[in-house]
Amino acid sequence: KSLTVGLIPADGIGREVIPAARDAILAVQTELPPVSFVDLLAGWDTFTRTGTALPAETVKTLKEECDCALFGSVSSPSRKVAGYSSPIVALRKELDLYANIRPVRSVSADPSKPPTTDLIVVRENTECLYVKDEKLTTGEHGKEARAIRLITERASTRIGRIAFELAKARPRKLLTIIHKSNVLSVTDGLFRESVRAVPPASNGAFDDVTIEEQLVDSAVYRLFREPQIYDVMVAPNLYGDIISDAAAALVGSLGVIPSINAGDNFVMGEPVHGSAPDIAGKGIANPIASIRSAALMLRHLGYASPADKIDKAVNDTLAPGKVLTADLGGSSSTQEVTGHVMKLIQAQ
Ligand code: NAI
Ligand code: MG
Repeated sequence: KSLTVGLIPADGIGREVIPAARDAILAVQTELPPVSFVDLLAGWDTFTRTGTALPAETVKTLKEECDCALFGSVSSPSRKVAGYSSPIVALRKELDLYANIRPVRSVSADPSKPPTTDLIVVRENTECLYVKDEKLTTGEHGKEARAIRLITERASTRIGRIAFELAKARPRKLLTIIHKSNVLSVTDGLFRESVRAVPPASNGAFDDVTIEEQLVDSAVYRLFREPQIYDVMVAPNLYGDIISDAAAALVGSLGVIPSINAGDNFVMGEPVHGSAPDIAGKGIANPIASIRSAALMLRHLGYASPADKIDKAVNDTLAPGKVLTADLGGSSSTQEVTGHVMKLIQAQ
């Protein structure tokens, strides 16, 4: 057995933080099967040089040679550019990465106190309003725009299973289903029922998981007022998109929040932030979101112990608050923070 990791730094600070994620994997490699890395192209720079943001070679290599991948960030233009489409959206589709998993954990200055926010947002990644089936027509009173919202039992069940597995692995074992089925009883009703049907179909595997439900609007309200009530939240695509960004706002910097895009056969780690053109090239980007994405990816692949080591080193860097990048109020460089985390991994 071996572990082949595709590296797709893409644009901007992606090129500065993905090397930190690679270093973190190398630092725990004695606990992994033999690791190798493959450098792959994608992104806006690639588009301007080659005419495609996601070369066929990149997709082919990921499918045929890689077990997993780490994606940096793309600089998507805000205007419409002929021929350009986001490589990250295309990759999620190509590799059927149907689950977007985003843990959000606040930094606690006092390590003896539990963090106030320590939750995971599990977002369905393939359907809902994002099937982009939109239509503009002209009616009696002018323009009318419609969008189809697709919710399937299959997609809701498989995201539900992922959410139950994550909840089961955590100390609190609490899963909150986010929906709005008081209004959208058919679509959100199917999502809710499909997620609820996972435990009865799983031979008691999830009997120890507590299930709660929350309407999406009040969920956002409570997220800001009392984030500590949440453990794992599972939501359809659109609500999940909004909730995961809202949750990110609770912990101060985008530079510390990791994610993975997961399917049954592939997983791709991805820091939540973008390419940060305002600080790109200066060597001051926070590498922690990327390092944590590597840990999350390893954990998803079943390598819990090396993932724990990386996460512990990150938390032990954040809590004392001495070696931090500027986004967290420090003055350390990307390399200094990365070096510090690696030192703490090796010391374990
Ligand atoms: P952004 O996440 O790139 O930056 C927002 C702010 O956070 C900036 O001030 C930036 O300096 C700061 N920041 C982000 N990550 C940081 C880090 N690791 N360390 C320190 N500071 C950090 O979002 P923005 O500015 O809205 O978008 C910039 C570009 O990134 C756009 O082209 C956008 O399309 C793209 N983008 C790509 C994403 C992806 O690849 N998944 C996600 C979000 C945006
Ligand atoms: Mg978003």
